[in-house]
Amino acid sequence: MTTLTGELLHPSITDPEMDSMRLLSETALRFPDALSFSSGAPYDGNHDLANLSYYTDRYIKHLRDKGVPEARISRLLFQYGPVNGLIQDDVALMLRQDEGIDVAPEAVMITHGFQEAALVALRGLFTSPRDVLLSVSPAYVGIRGAARMLDIPIRGVPEGPDGLDPDAVAAAARAVRAEGGRPTALYLVPDFNNPSGTVLPLDARRRLLEIAEEEDLFVLEDNPYGLFAREGETMPTLKSLDTRGRVLYLGSFAKSAFPGARLGYLVADQEVTDASGTVRTLAQTLSKAKAMYSVGSSTLSQAVIGGYLAEHRHDLRSATRELAAVYLERLDATLAALARHFPPGGDHGVSWNTPRGGFFLVLKVPFTADLAAMERSARDHGVSWAPMTMFHLDGGGRREIRLGFSNLAPEAIDEGIARLARFIADTPRETPRSAPRETTGDTV
Ligand SMILES: Cc1ncc(COP(=O)(O)O)c(C=O)c1O
Repeated sequence: MTTLTGELLHPSITDPEMDSMRLLSETALRFPDALSFSSGAPYDGNHDLANLSYYTDRYIKHLRDKGVPEARISRLLFQYGPVNGLIQDDVALMLRQDEGIDVAPEAVMITHGFQEAALVALRGLFTSPRDVLLSVSPAYVGIRGAARMLDIPIRGVPEGPDGLDPDAVAAAARAVRAEGGRPTALYLVPDFNNPSGTVLPLDARRRLLEIAEEEDLFVLEDNPYGLFAREGETMPTLKSLDTRGRVLYLGSFAKSAFPGARLGYLVADQEVTDASGTVRTLAQTLSKAKAMYSVGSSTLSQAVIGGYLAEHRHDLRSATRELAAVYLERLDATLAALARHFPPGGDHGVSWNTPRGGFFLVLKVPFTADLAAMERSARDHGVSWAPMTMFHLDGGGRREIRLGFSNLAPEAIDEGIARLARFIADTPRETPRSAPRETTGDTV
């Protein structure tokens, strides 16, 4: 039997940071008795097995209603499908209604979740080892992992209470250039960032697009949570404000439908001229990368999601109103429980930010909140969470934890925060000087 040592494998495989996605999703399984604030798993109270076949049939009906011949429907669903997908026209309709994003179906690629959209976009845009990805920090672990898999250097731009400061993005781009690199693209989640819950204000969105033009940056806009804003507080996406073709929009059905479908999409309407002079969209051009990652997205998943879209007349914003209310109730329950257990002026050393929506908030605690602390919390106090160090790109967040409240009912949230308060009271405090030095800005 040949034995391998880690050094023989690609560094992304042995890098402990690459384990965070698995750790976050498996914490609930490892500690089944703990109340889990550790992941961003969506609410599953309305998952009904009957819907899987219902929506598939609904999609088949949708195709029949459009006059697609029976033999073609059968071929579309059973055979290898078109690489860029079956439901681009449905997604384009949805984007027009929900987000004011007006693109042709040819500008849409259906992907295996956000994750594949990120891999495809990065693969296409990053051409040399000098190319650097700028990213909001703290950031969703999936983007760091995708960049690492492709050997793309990533540079964090620390966010503040209102998300990314566009001038900090410009400064980071210039710093990369001064070091001999090429800042190629910027990744961010303008609406309810994971992990911090921040929302980028409208004027900053406009300014960021100007900076992208000035600094010659593409913008990778990731928007899984934008539908879950409070009534009247919805922000225009960067893509809908983008008049210069700077933004690639990365979508996911993980939260607006369900994550088991593993379905997302990439919107890339930029025009690309090939060697023969043929002009195609960037999404069509990148289909070579998509073909080599996954050949095509599951036709079954596309049928279910296509049926879900057709059933709701491609208006997911209306279709997810009740779901949004569920998440907002959970956010409010978390904030209320925190205020009860850690009253203002109390000697607890705990503070937190107050997002207006989304699935997450960040708590500052008076000790190092690492994985060992999380395991102690889950094992001895029955409550799990995520260390913020997993999300910081430059070593920050040591005394911060991410609370994901999306998959806990309000009563469980009350109990979970009570347990968390006991864990925090039980954990010896570190004086700021005894704690390792933070290297990036605060998130709260
Ligand atoms: C910021 C962010 N982007 C994307 C996703 C969804 O990714 P996928 O479609 O690969 O499940 C998540 C899910 O947690 C997320 O938090």
